[in-house]
Amino acid sequence: MADTPWQGQDPPNGEEIYKYLLEKIAALENRNMELREQLRQMEVEKRYSETQKIRFERDLRKLKSEIEQLRSPPLVIGTITDVVDQNRVIVRSSSGPRFLVRASQCIEADQLKPGVRCTMNQQSLAIVEILPSTYDPQVYGMEVMESPTESYADIGGLAPQILEIKEAVELPLKRPDLFEKVGIEPPKGVLLFGPPGTGKTLLAKAVAHETNAHFLRVVGSELVQKYIGEGARLVRELFEMAQKKSPSILFIDEIDAIGAQRMEADTSGDREVQRTLMQLLAGMDGFEKRGDVKIIGATNRIDILDRALLRPGRFDRIIEIPLPDAEGRLAILKIHTRGMNLDDGVVLREVANLTEGKNGADLRAICTEAGMFAIRAERTTVTQADFVSAIEKVSTDFQRHHLPTSFGAMFA
Ligand SMILES: Nc1ncnc2c1ncn2[C@@H]1O[C@H](COP(=O)(O)OP(=O)(O)OP(=O)(O)O)[C@@H](O)[C@H]1O
Ligand SMILES: [Mg+2]
Repeated sequence: MADTPWQGQDPPNGEEIYKYLLEKIAALENRNMELREQLRQMEVEKRYSETQKIRFERDLRKLKSEIEQLRSPPLVIGTITDVVDQNRVIVRSSSGPRFLVRASQCIEADQLKPGVRCTMNQQSLAIVEILPSTYDPQVYGMEVMESPTESYADIGGLAPQILEIKEAVELPLKRPDLFEKVGIEPPKGVLLFGPPGTGKTLLAKAVAHETNAHFLRVVGSELVQKYIGEGARLVRELFEMAQKKSPSILFIDEIDAIGAQRMEADTSGDREVQRTLMQLLAGMDGFEKRGDVKIIGATNRIDILDRALLRPGRFDRIIEIPLPDAEGRLAILKIHTRGMNLDDGVVLREVANLTEGKNGADLRAICTEAGMFAIRAERTTVTQADFVSAIEKVSTDFQRHHLPTSFGAMFA
């Protein structure tokens, strides 16, 4: 008892000692509480630091993997051409050669389809991921016109053909209920065939205009020439886009470039065209129940088309667009002279009679040329003589372009 207040004095009585001890205990309890509070605060701080540590560690890992990713070699882009089994597929790399490779476990089996684009590891060429398909009309040269401006009134002659196409394309788009009531499948599409310049493209555009359907146009020769190796994928994407934008008309011009008869394919180019055709057939079969996507094909070489394309259920109607007869030519001339300032002496019927064998494109050219003759003569009205000169000019231009002199000389 060295530090008691009564040190060296008379010891206090019991009551004082008791009071003193009580004070001491109270002070100690206070101190205890303070320490407890401090401890609690330190624990909170500790917990905070711990979470902070975890957060920093996570950031560190993220940054490390980011560095890792930035350091990793670029992925190769390829297109799947064939699926062998569960996880082996054949891909064609963008540089050309084809490989049998494995696909990452993370890729769902149903994503591995021929035609889809993928990225591959540079060394093993294993498929790392499947790229989403894109629908960029500009990139793929599919002209997507919301709605063309040409109408049936801009087509001369061809009345029976217009009627047929109306029934096969326009009616199912406008009145699908009629087909339902009668209980028949509406036609899926029509194939227009005939010599060049007779209005096949024009007719397809007019139908789209008349139905207010979206109009997707793709040119067969471009599919195989411009987009080598991508033809099948493009066709698939075209069909997907047509479906997405329905009601729509998918117009495949120069379909003979992809739809030519399948022969022994010995070059890879032929095989490529065949794959494109197969995709086209698959696409057409995929529209089983859909009344709102119509396909119009156009060709001037129906003789070389694959029979499969001509089978009922693909192009249900095959419509010939012939060279115009005299009446047709007159109708076409009337259309193309609509805005022209014609002399009273112009007899279009006579012009029609003089243009046997000319197609619609020629006739339009004749009208333009006749106008040029008038301009050259410093007139503002076009005369019959201008038309006669124009017929002459267009005919000789035609010969010059289509029968080169060297060709003629070979037979001379
Ligand atoms: N029947 C027609 N009535 C009015 N104009 C026509 C007709 N046929 C052709 N033309 C004119 O000729 C142009 C070319 O015709 P279009 O492109 O439709 O021919 P096409 O049959 O598709 O030829 P190709 O087989 O070479 O593709 C049209 O833009 C139009 O100006
Ligand atoms: Mg055409």
